[in-house]
Amino acid sequence: MALPVALITGATSGLGAEFAQQLARSQHDLVLVARTVAKLEAKAVRLRTEFGIHVEVLPADLLTDDGVASVSARLADRERPVSVLVNNAGFSFVTAFEDSTVEAETEHLRILALTPMQLTHAVLDGMLERREGRIVNVSSVSAFIPRGSYGAAKAWLTSFSRSANLRYGPRGVQVTAVCPGFVHTEFHQRMGANMSGIPKWMWLNPDQVVREGLAANAAGKSVSIPSRRYATLIALSKLVPDKLAAAVGNRGR
Ligand SMILES: NC(=O)c1ccc[n+]([C@@H]2O[C@H](COP(=O)([O-])OP(=O)(O)OC[C@H]3O[C@@H](n4cnc5c(N)ncnc54)[C@H](OP(=O)(O)O)[C@@H]3O)[C@@H](O)[C@H]2O)c1
Repeated sequence: MALPVALITGATSGLGAEFAQQLARSQHDLVLVARTVAKLEAKAVRLRTEFGIHVEVLPADLLTDDGVASVSARLADRERPVSVLVNNAGFSFVTAFEDSTVEAETEHLRILALTPMQLTHAVLDGMLERREGRIVNVSSVSAFIPRGSYGAAKAWLTSFSRSANLRYGPRGVQVTAVCPGFVHTEFHQRMGANMSGIPKWMWLNPDQVVREGLAANAAGKSVSIPSRRYATLIALSKLVPDKLAAAVGNRGR
């Protein structure tokens, strides 16, 4: 019998690679999307060998129209339906909004909000027709506190996920925003951030974030804030002035 297919963007490292690992373990075939072909191929070989699943490699730059079009075409393919979409690919930068260029901000907003919207749109029709589907949008705790254009983009993704889950959940399509705090991945290193001031207890492992995120999605929840400590912090942040809430995670994403 054919296994359900999961498509993961940003599958070459960090949270995306962990989503691939956990979805493979729970017997899903995979479509891995990112830009770095060699890393995609290496991951695919390892996952096929370890889990005996079918793995497609789909190299795409999700900041280009062509890249988004090729992933959208795969998502809309009724012959090989995708049951799980994980919108995960993302990056950020340390430059403050007033010092960055409008081009850089546009790319940032595109990868964090516009691309997930386009990919969701591409997969949704088929999922609604089949009355079955799962969409996981990797957001951030930054969605809940004032955190520049990164927090604003993640707030969009979280709000979109919540309303989509309300609307499509009863029709069989569960949509969840996974909102982690600091996670050990390549994210901060790629953005050139100095994370030395972040206390140890604020760091999460990808394993926990993905496990809790997938469980929340399976349970039909709109939002997952992995770990009790972050769930508590975010609950408290709603009670304090913006200035204090923003100071909590000032240097990370
Ligand atoms: N790490 C954290 O503390 C943290 C906290 C909250 C939320 N998040 C969110 O988690 C998500 C995953 O980040 P991560 O922490 O796992 O970072 P990461 O280790 O840097 O991984 C980012 C992934 O995105 C892919 N990617 C980047 N730009 C792309 C593009 N233009 N087209 C296609 N793929 C692209 C990268 O692959 P290639 O370079 O091969 O394309 C890589 O696989 C992001 O949305 C981030 O905002 C992270």
